[in-house]
Amino acid sequence: MDVQKMGQIYEGKAKKVFQTNNPDLYWIEYKDDATAFDGKKKGTIMNKGILNNKISNHFFKMLEDRGIPTHLVNQINDRESVVKAVKIILVEVVVRNIAAGSLSKRIGLPEGTMLPKTVLEFYYKDDALGDPLINDYHIQVLDLATPEQMKVISEIALKTNDILREYLKDKKIDLIDFKLEFGTHKGQVILADEISPDTCRFWDLETREKLDKDRFRRDLGNVEEAYREVLKRLTGETI
Ligand code: TMP
Ligand code: ASP
Repeated sequence: MDVQKMGQIYEGKAKKVFQTNNPDLYWIEYKDDATAFDGKKKGTIMNKGILNNKISNHFFKMLEDRGIPTHLVNQINDRESVVKAVKIILVEVVVRNIAAGSLSKRIGLPEGTMLPKTVLEFYYKDDALGDPLINDYHIQVLDLATPEQMKVISEIALKTNDILREYLKDKKIDLIDFKLEFGTHKGQVILADEISPDTCRFWDLETREKLDKDRFRRDLGNVEEAYREVLKRLTGETI
């Protein structure tokens, strides 16, 4: 039976989520809207919805091929994809290889400092609280995930880092850090949301040029061009 788009169930900052005629599937639509700093900075990145849909699907397919469970089912068109219906776990997972952004601010390591060990961080996905940094104790107190789920989440996050880093090095991109979200589908913890220049820091391996949303956050210009460059390096595609 063909999957059909039904009523909208959620609108986030970068995507809309719709029900489908199949209760196990959601339909997502990527928007061009861009926000930063808890939505305090707002803008539009032309064609971002198309670029992130394609980039994220490319990463998810590649990860699935290497044994990582993800929500991706298939791409419908430029901006829309069908995914497994998940209940989002309210823990955002950040993996860091090189110091940047809030880590540099928090612990004083200059941006670009190679970390001797991969850093894993958890944030409480709560806009009203500004997504605060939390630890395993907070996660248990708030009952956001079970210890068993957190073990799976940490393992998937670190394995995803190994796969992405290696893969991106080939494309002459250094993976500085990135954010993952997880959901449960029929009791299984799987990767959800997106992996894109909105949710990762990508630096050109040689020039160290930023190819990600920091160009928008920091008003560096050529934002759309950077996202296009990432898609081109990943798939050869120009849109
Ligand atoms: P941070 O250095 O600002 O904490 O960001 C770490 C990584 O997480 C970076 O690759 C951007 C990504 N990120 C999101 O995807 N969403 C967010 O809301 C924030 C703050 C960061
Ligand atoms: N997406 C987040 C927001 O709008 C922040 C970010 O990516 O910098 O608040």
